[in-house]
Formats: sequence, C-alpha cells, structure tokens
Amino acid sequence: MIRINPNYPKLSSSYLFSEISRRVAAFKAERADATVINMGVGDVTLPLTPTVVQAFRRAVDEMGKAETFRGYPPELGYEFLRSAIAENDFQARGADVDPDEIVISDGAKSDTANIQELFAGDIRIAIPDPVYPVYVDTNVMAGRTGPYRDGRYGGLIYLDCTEDNQFIPEPPKSRVDLIYLCFPNNPTGATIDRGRLTGWVEYARGARALILYDAAYVSFIRDESLPQTIYEIPGARECAIEFRSFSKTAGFTGTRCAFTVVPKTCVAWDAEGREHSLHALWSRRQSTKFNGVSYPVQRAAAAIYTPEGKKETRGLSDYYLGNARVVRRKMDSLGFACVGGDNSPYVWVRTGADSWSFFDRLLRTAAVVITPGSGFGSCGEGYIRMSAFNSRELVEEAMERIGRVAGELRGAD
Ligand code: MLT
Repeated sequence: MIRINPNYPKLSSSYLFSEISRRVAAFKAERADATVINMGVGDVTLPLTPTVVQAFRRAVDEMGKAETFRGYPPELGYEFLRSAIAENDFQARGADVDPDEIVISDGAKSDTANIQELFAGDIRIAIPDPVYPVYVDTNVMAGRTGPYRDGRYGGLIYLDCTEDNQFIPEPPKSRVDLIYLCFPNNPTGATIDRGRLTGWVEYARGARALILYDAAYVSFIRDESLPQTIYEIPGARECAIEFRSFSKTAGFTGTRCAFTVVPKTCVAWDAEGREHSLHALWSRRQSTKFNGVSYPVQRAAAAIYTPEGKKETRGLSDYYLGNARVVRRKMDSLGFACVGGDNSPYVWVRTGADSWSFFDRLLRTAAVVITPGSGFGSCGEGYIRMSAFNSRELVEEAMERIGRVAGELRGAD
C-alpha cells in the first residue's frame, strides 16, 4: 500500500491564494455580469519593458542558430547575470557580495520553500505572524511542526506583529535557530530600519542562528534611509541568506527568474558541531534538483541593469506605488487604519471584522477581491491586505466601489 507523507494532512487548509481563486470562481459562476477587480494576489499587470523584451528576443534568436545555441545553463546561473546583480544590487550599496555567492533560480517562492531542506528536523524556527504562508507550510510538509490548533502549528515560535510593534517583530527571548524575515513585508507592507535589522543580526550571531531574509519587494523602497539588503548590516554575511526576485521588480511573475545570495562566510553545524558551508550545501541541493533558468530569461533579467533598463524598471514600481497611494488615501478617508503602501505595493488595512467575512462581503457588494488577513496568520485576523498590482483605472474604480459600499462593509462580521 502506497502511503502519503503523514505531514501533509496537518496542513490547515488549501493554499491561501488557491482558496481565494476558488471563491472568486464560484462568485463569477453565480454573477456572470459582474466585473471583478483583483486586488488580492500580488500579480503584476504591466508588461515586460521594451529593453527587457529586446534582450529576450535577441537571446531567443541566438538559441535558433547553431553557432550561438546553448544547452543546459551553468548550474548557478550565467556569469553575466550574477555579475550584474552583484555590482548593481549589492556593491553599489556598499554591501560585500561576490557574483559567486549568487544562485539564479526560477522564483523566491521556490527558494524560500526549498531552503529548509538544508536544516535538521528538530531546529527551532521563528515565524512572524502574519507571514507569507510558504515559510510555514513548507516546514509543516517537512515534519518540523506539531498539529494545527487555534490558528497555529505546534512547535513553531511565532513572533506577533501588531500595531504595538509597528508590525516589526522583535528577537524572541528564547533561543531559535532559524528566523524568517521579509522586508518590505508581505503582507503588511511594513519596512525595517537599520537599527532594528542590526538588532536581528546581532541576535542571530549571538545564537549561532540563521536569518532567511526575503527581499522580494525591495524595488518599492523609496525611503533612502532604509536598508535595501541585509548585507548593509555589519555581520550579516555570517548569519543571513537573502532572497530576491525579478517578479515584482521587473514584471517577471510569468517569466520566472530570481536569485538567492548565500555568502561563503555563512555556515551551519552538524550534530557533532562540525561547520558546513551553506553555499556548498545550497549548490549541492540546486545542482541535484534544479536545471536552471533558460538563457533567454537570464538575458532578459540582465537587461534591467542597463541604463535604459534601470529607468524602465523604476517606472514599473513607481506606477504600482502610485496605485498604492490611491488605495491608502481612500481607505484612510473612509476611516480604516492602514499601514504600508509607501515603500511597498501592499496596504494592510484594519477592518475590525472577521477577515473572510469581510472578503466575502466585499466580493458580493463591490466585486473587489482582496486577501483576508487571517490567511497570513492569526495576528492577521481583523485585517485585509490590498495589493496595488493592477491598472490605475481599475484601482480607482475599485476604490470608488468600496466608497459606495463602505457603510455595509463596516457591518461585516
Ligand atoms: C502574494 O500575493 O503574496 C504573492 O503574489 C505571492 C507570491 O509572490 O508568491
């Protein structure tokens, strides 16, 4: 008899964005006339920029000619892309990252999901709440948690992110081994300043812990005082892995390209206390399980680092940030407390109502889709996340619709 992984039935429910899609599909089946506006999943709507498309096309042409055809890409990614990343995203900010410490992949989701394979089954894991569900679910699948009860899995150390701490977790009193952080944050849109991030790096070094730093939304930072990479913080090279993505930065959600920085100075220990290079382990994992990102996609990604590419790419995040301002202005004016949206494409809104009831009511009354805060953890109950990834026209239309039904929404519960 073939038996399943006994950890899968522990998963609390379907993947958050699958559940949203299911509810939206049911609504559309019932109300074929409704024009649904999606401010739920953070999926980009603007097309790839001209410079990116040109580089993509040129590389496809190369693949069609015998002299320039290429087979499997190098295991860790093409040098032209890793060098462009190291120089522009890190060295230009005074962060010491070498091209050889960058590993190209198909997504920050897959990398943040897969990285836990490198660690022992009984490590202590700190998870912010609310949080991007992938960090939790992949540890559940790997058997690192107990059962799900009252909105939380046994065995994880949850770090409450609330209005009291401006949605930025503090290092825990107890010792943990692995810490997930994401800034600008998904889902709250909160950002972390240098001082607080330094506190985390110091904690991790003291505890011989590792920080998994998800910076997939870094291109939305406009406040120059904020750190744009954890490697701007002294000591981070010894205790942090950083995840980045071209998805939100350059509109690559459908094109797929991302990278993970694993400094060669980052180590973890085995049961006998022997040190192991995390870069070596991650390279070993990727070369065994992954065959890389295609040449045209890596060329397309590298094009964002050309002068033209930089300008165009900045234009993409400027546009979504403009949408976020429209959302914040409206929700503020309707009397909802909000955070995020200034250095982030997400606005986190306190509704005070049960998150899924609010979701259903907004869908039924205004045909607007948001993400219920409780889908990100129990501290998200009473909140919703609004994504700025849509056209300006549709965001404005959604805000108008919400304004019209605001009275009914307040009664949601
Ligand atoms: C989100 O809406 O949180 C993101 O689109 C999820 C993702 O990037 O995988």
